[in-house]
Amino acid sequence: MTDIKTYINQNKDRFINELFDLLRIPSISADPSYKDAMIQTAEAVKSALEKAGCDSVEICETPGNPIVYGEKIIDDNLPTVLVYGHYDVQPADPVELWDSPAFEPVIKKTELHPDGAIFARGSSDDKGQMYMHVKALEYMTTEGELPCNVKFMIEGEEEVGSGSLEWFVKRNQEKLKNDIILISDTGMISNSQPSITTGLRGLSYVEVEITGPNRDLHSGLYGGAVANPINILTKMIASLHDENNHITIPGFYDKVLEASTEERKEMAKAPFSLDAYKKALDLEDVYGEKGYSTLERASIRPTLDVNGIWGGYIEEGAKTVIPSKAFAKISMRLVPNQNSDEITALFTKHFESIAPKAVKVKVTAHHGGEAYVTPIDNIGYRAANKAYTETFGVPAIPQRSGGSIPIVALFEQELKSKTILMGFGLDSDAIHSPNEHYGVFNYLKGIETIPLFFKYFTEMS
Ligand code: BES
Ligand code: MN
Ligand code: MN
Repeated sequence: MTDIKTYINQNKDRFINELFDLLRIPSISADPSYKDAMIQTAEAVKSALEKAGCDSVEICETPGNPIVYGEKIIDDNLPTVLVYGHYDVQPADPVELWDSPAFEPVIKKTELHPDGAIFARGSSDDKGQMYMHVKALEYMTTEGELPCNVKFMIEGEEEVGSGSLEWFVKRNQEKLKNDIILISDTGMISNSQPSITTGLRGLSYVEVEITGPNRDLHSGLYGGAVANPINILTKMIASLHDENNHITIPGFYDKVLEASTEERKEMAKAPFSLDAYKKALDLEDVYGEKGYSTLERASIRPTLDVNGIWGGYIEEGAKTVIPSKAFAKISMRLVPNQNSDEITALFTKHFESIAPKAVKVKVTAHHGGEAYVTPIDNIGYRAANKAYTETFGVPAIPQRSGGSIPIVALFEQELKSKTILMGFGLDSDAIHSPNEHYGVFNYLKGIETIPLFFKYFTEMS
């Protein structure tokens, strides 16, 4: 037996190099031309799980990208932890804004990471965080002790809505049976203050198309007499928030579960500096819904944001034209009790109703998902907190996150299990952005903390 700290010290270069190999494969799920890379990544994950001590690992075909499933069952009477993660990543665009290529990982020191951070797409979201579990398993099956059964389910479509995972979960209830689901795909407050994510927002995502005249028109000959779809679209979008930044869609807030005064008071205790927040983003001021703090706006409140908007002439120079069409992609982050299909329907009805007769409106729904909240009075939370307390020297703080992992609500519905979100990333990791990175400290701390979760969860079960 070697203790985990010694084991990490002896093996850290290898741990980093193995992760580098995984990060070099561009597993971009949004772009079908990377299909080969998806399969190559799934195979690399499979072989890593086999080497780490799983008894059986399979690549499960789905209608989309394969899911890697592995397990090590030591005793049917012991609890089972199901580890979930994703091997797919977001596109690297805009590539010219990366200081080093997205799929050529390098370690660089930063202000927040004096020990260095791994710069590559997927380093934090989620290959780096997922791989901590593989290395934690390797430790437990060799120099440490695996106290319970473990199952791994690593998917390749999280960044595009987990469509195939839903398909897979519904067909494999028995195989996926577990006592707790463990995920590292979120963040924590800082490297000196761990937190456990107790909530995720849901998501409704739509694309809208406004059509005016049947062709692009000369803006002198027709300007002023026909509806310009871009003018109309921007006006419609602007009307979706009122002067207090409340969303104006009728019924949008009807089912929102308001946080209690008590809960809001607890939230306000989390360490947070508005000045540091503004400084990190080069902002003079923040902006959001009246009556709520920045932390609340970004976690317990629903939102509506335009993610992209296009149409008309955007090339060099000037072209005088009234475009035939204008488009936008719009996402709404949802909170507990709001239903994503219902919200999509409310949006569609409202958006169609506010359009003038002079244009046609088309709304297309993309993937959605439901919000998630978990109480902290259960053994999963307590085991995680005990593990963090031991490795960080301070207890973790429960915190609701603004991000979404739609599959978590589905796990609860289909598998009837709770999820513990033990994230080791930081908000400053730049996930989905150029120069995504993951602290070497965070990577190794995760590997150190995970085996303790297994130990305490088993003891408390
Ligand atoms: N890992 C993130 C979600 C996340 C990050 C939650 C940090 C909390 C803290 C995940 O990969 C992600 O990006 N989810 C998408 C939703 C998905 C349906 C595309 C998101 O939140 O936009
Ligand atoms: Mn993720
Ligand atoms: Mn992501």
